[in-house]
Amino acid sequence: IGSRIIYFDTIDSTNNYSKRIAKDTPHGTIIISEEQSGGRGRLGRNWISPKGEGIWMSILLKPEIPPTEGMKMTQIAAAAACQAIRDVTALEAYIKWPNDIVVHGKKVCGILTEMAGELNQIDYLIVGIGINANNLSFPKEFKDVATSLAIEKGEKVDRKTLILDLLSKFEALYCHYIMEGKLDETLSIIRNYSAVLGKSVRIIKGNQECYAIVEEINDEGCLKVRYEDGEEELLISGEVSIRGK
Ligand code: BTN
Repeated sequence: IGSRIIYFDTIDSTNNYSKRIAKDTPHGTIIISEEQSGGRGRLGRNWISPKGEGIWMSILLKPEIPPTEGMKMTQIAAAAACQAIRDVTALEAYIKWPNDIVVHGKKVCGILTEMAGELNQIDYLIVGIGINANNLSFPKEFKDVATSLAIEKGEKVDRKTLILDLLSKFEALYCHYIMEGKLDETLSIIRNYSAVLGKSVRIIKGNQECYAIVEEINDEGCLKVRYEDGEEELLISGEVSIRGK
């Protein structure tokens, strides 16, 4: 992973570009851009990606796994990003299941995993990672929910160091999973640094809001929650926010 890197000054979205070239591009290629004019977040949201301030990149993977396992790539990326942010910046980063990294309660990193393929086999999978590294300001509507590593640390972060650290961690966790079928190291990072485990959270289901306690992150990386009425549910993905936020 990362032996081939495609670098742009500007692009619409590294995930979109990855999709366009996926068929003819080898597994493990990294697509990275200084700026995205149409950066995308989850649930159709925009992802602001100003020039030179963050890390906007996609990892193109062609693993031999069924689509149902695809979500594990998000977990692996979240674990790698969280651990890399901790090691490089010494900030206390936490994972807000399933794919956000927060520092001091505000989002510094988001992951958007997209895949294409058949019922039993993925053609390709794109793990898009956005890290607010050196942003010094955010649009008003994001001020309460988003921050950057530089704002929290009070000094600029070397993006190259962070990218290399993240990729080497991602590769180690990814190979451990693909070759040995083991997700244990990923899970232990995800559980250790979980922002939601044991907490009361708000869950958005369709257009309904529910409250629940997070009881467990199971061995598949799913979230086991118990609602206020006592009912339990296993969440595969979705929107979870910490109560009161
Ligand atoms: C989210 O938290 O909603 C996910 C944000 C993902 C942003 C990254 S930046 C690189 C890649 N390209 C995109 O257009 N999105 C992802």
